[in-house]
Amino acid sequence: MSDGFMWFEGIPFPVVDYTPEHLRAVRESFVFKDEDVLTVSFPKSGTNWLIEMLCLIYSKGDPTWVQSVPIWERSPWLENTHGYNTLKDKDGPRLITSHLPIHLFPKSVFKSKTKVIYLIRNPRDILVSGYFFWIISNFVKKPESLEQYFEWFIQGNVAFGSWFDHTRGWMSMREKENFLIVSYEELKQDTRSTVQKICRFLGKKLEPEELNSLLKYSSFQVMKENKMSNYTLLRGWLLDGESGSLMRKGICGDWKNYFTVAQAEAFDKIFQEKMADLPQELFPWE
Ligand code: A3P
Repeated sequence: MSDGFMWFEGIPFPVVDYTPEHLRAVRESFVFKDEDVLTVSFPKSGTNWLIEMLCLIYSKGDPTWVQSVPIWERSPWLENTHGYNTLKDKDGPRLITSHLPIHLFPKSVFKSKTKVIYLIRNPRDILVSGYFFWIISNFVKKPESLEQYFEWFIQGNVAFGSWFDHTRGWMSMREKENFLIVSYEELKQDTRSTVQKICRFLGKKLEPEELNSLLKYSSFQVMKENKMSNYTLLRGWLLDGESGSLMRKGICGDWKNYFTVAQAEAFDKIFQEKMADLPQELFPWE
């Protein structure tokens, strides 16, 4: 019987659209192409924001695509069956999204020139964002309290496993030239420059008015109103019928409104223990 997760090789996955057979098939047989662009993140890092920006880079700021096609069709999720089926028959440069930890990833990506963007965010904010999202969702185990979710997160018993392992695993790619790390924090602090950095990595150039349009249509307020991007199309099925939305607050540092002093100290200690050997400039939050 399901405990609210679909477990695969010790990692909890959502129960809808994920199966062990499928995850095995993805790892063994999905073939990346050099022209693909892959977004990888731990859930609640701001993935959909980055996808929206990538779509607007590829449409040169024209909002037609982001306003007419659901976000999960524009940059499908490799690891769920719907996304995989959409991707495998797609021609041309594909935008692909994944939350998979690196050890479950198709090996073909490491042999290809696929451009990989790894999006990171302060795990404290990821924790808070995840808590508020999963309690309005119907496809992963629901926590009863933030206190309980805090424990699950530390133990890696949340969707897609341990943030610490996920981040360490993908960060090992950081010296490769087809790998770019982008943080939610830098996107918030200077969206324009960060989009320009992403464009340089992708070999794309936007005219000033195209960039302005991208910034407008990927802003929190506009995405919040865009039913193709805010997940309200999933209301009544995967998300709560009344309040289900991806767009919560869209800010940095919200964890300070929720963590107790003891939780903040415990998190600092665990972060130090698990991440101290990585260059700390990789983590641009205080
Ligand atoms: P909060 O819950 O902290 O508000 P993901 O897409 O990986 O599931 O991440 C969701 C988080 O990204 C949510 O964070 C959501 O509000 C935030 N987000 C989505 N679009 C955004 C935007 N345009 N600007 C800033 N934050 C955004």
